[in-house]
Amino acid sequence: MARSISLKQAYWFLAACGALYVTFISILCTSWAQKHAVYIHKLHTLWWHDVDKPEQFGFLKNQVQPLHITTPDGETLYAWHIVPIAKYIANEDHLINEHTTSATPFQDSVGFDLLSKDPNSRLVINFHGNAGTVAQGWRTDAYRSLSAGAPDKIHVLAVDYRGFGLSTGTPDEQGLITDGIATVRWAMDVAKISPERIVLVGQSLGTAVAAAVAEHFVRVSEVEFAGIVLIAAFSDLPTLLLTYSISGLIPVLSPLRPYPRLQRFFLGFLRDRWDTASRITDLVRKSQKVNLHLIHSKDDFDISWKHSESLFYAAANATSPSGLSMKQIEAVKLRQDLHEGGSLESWNSDGMKRIAKQIVRYGGHNRITTYPCIARTVQHIFEQ
Ligand SMILES: *[C@@H]1O[C@H](CO)[C@@H](O)[C@H](O)[C@H]1NC(C)=O
Repeated sequence: MARSISLKQAYWFLAACGALYVTFISILCTSWAQKHAVYIHKLHTLWWHDVDKPEQFGFLKNQVQPLHITTPDGETLYAWHIVPIAKYIANEDHLINEHTTSATPFQDSVGFDLLSKDPNSRLVINFHGNAGTVAQGWRTDAYRSLSAGAPDKIHVLAVDYRGFGLSTGTPDEQGLITDGIATVRWAMDVAKISPERIVLVGQSLGTAVAAAVAEHFVRVSEVEFAGIVLIAAFSDLPTLLLTYSISGLIPVLSPLRPYPRLQRFFLGFLRDRWDTASRITDLVRKSQKVNLHLIHSKDDFDISWKHSESLFYAAANATSPSGLSMKQIEAVKLRQDLHEGGSLESWNSDGMKRIAKQIVRYGGHNRITTYPCIARTVQHIFEQ
């Protein structure tokens, strides 16, 4: 008797879970919920932090200058320019005594002069992942790590996409790509940094933005950057969602793994597809001297490092007009075993197009952005 009741309870419990899951997935099919689930742009800490006061996040006085970038479709993006520490020290009095208010145009600041008037300035344009603002979580540590190197030339420009933080608008794929392009345009046209002095760095969702922006510039105007660094990239959103769990906890489509047709049915409702694999293929094909670095940690539980693995093969394959077999790629790629530090592989078929992949063992999904494997890669790119 007791046994049949518990079986019955188990049955109802499972039925309730199933119903909840179906409700959850159906809600995600609506445009509004999907936008919030994919971009999570309304989850931030603006209520108790003032992003406009970067000193609250551990920066020195006036080390960071907030600025605004307008997009061709009328959005205003909020961004930060971070002065490298060595350059800050060399210009300390000037920066400390500078009097700025939120109304001071960035172009009148000492920081802008340090960036734009020095022909040696190098610029990392940082595209962050979903959720939060330029100042969220490990992001501020990541900027410090990038700009802390001995050469005093590596500046960082970090931008909040439309709908994020203090930027206007609401996010979607085309909008975020427009924002990325507008940010690069600002760097080239207003700050006068030529593309061979620019590295695009993206993490997670930001890798999809960085890849799309790089592809746009090479396709539309044959503009190539010093390098593109993609941290914790994914091949495309539908493929990611098949295995993805929100915050590593709530599975999206993996419970439907036994029902591929049902998975495909739900994926049909996906509005933004973020097809990085084809954008990277296109980028490598059209480029003369692409310098692409994929970096991923094995203990990333949000996005598996296998995504970077398949992007690496897609990119290497695209270096040859007729394509390459796995065997051909394996035969020419260089591999360095770094033991606990993971491994480094690079593909440099004709000496011009360089594609590298670094799989580290530790760093997770977010914290890796603050690790020296990233700062080292960026510094190497600028030294080449
Ligand atoms: C490799 O490139 C060739 C030629 O562009 C293409 O037909 C093929 O599908 C590619 N293979 C993979 C695994 O991407």
